[in-house]
Amino acid sequence: MSGDGGAMNVLAPYYPWLKALHILSVIAWMAGMLYLPRLFVYHAGTEPGSPTSETFKTMERRLYRAIMTPAMVATWFFGLSLTLTGVVQWTEFWLYAKLVLVAGMTWLHFGLGRWRRDFAADRRPHGAAFYRAINEAPTLLLIGIVVLAVVRPF
Ligand code: HEM
Repeated sequence: MSGDGGAMNVLAPYYPWLKALHILSVIAWMAGMLYLPRLFVYHAGTEPGSPTSETFKTMERRLYRAIMTPAMVATWFFGLSLTLTGVVQWTEFWLYAKLVLVAGMTWLHFGLGRWRRDFAADRRPHGAAFYRAINEAPTLLLIGIVVLAVVRPF
């Protein structure tokens, strides 16, 4: 633990719970970030307006609104709360590098929301190959973020 016991340590007594809730919300968010592009790959192969396409729309809407978005908000809330437990040495670089990758993950989250709305409106600007490529991005970001958070190479 760092610091002088001031405002930056105000949540120190709750550190273990905040970290557990941070990791739980990360798991829920990443589950959606890895699954939604996969749904898009299969959805792109269906006829707009077909019963299968309508089923995919319902699955995508519920995943994005009921799981992914609340989990993203919770990940940010508990992650930022952890920075008020005194655990972060602000001279270390890992958290800054991690937040750059997390900003990328958050940008991708809103991109998935835009593509979900395209499908919901039967707009098909991209094919399955595009979503297959997009599916790799959260995996690569996840690997980078977890290595930075656990190994702290710098
Ligand atoms: C959204 C903004 C985020 C902030 C501000 C943040 C901040 C933090 C902080 C301060 C810690 C505590 C480090 C410690 O206990 O010493 C932590 C732990 C952790 N974070 Fe985040 N985090 C964020 C997002 C994420 C995301 C998106 C992931 C994964 C995809 C992630 C994965 C982890 C992991 C695995 C740990 C535990 C590391 C350990 O036990 O050593 N975090 N985070």
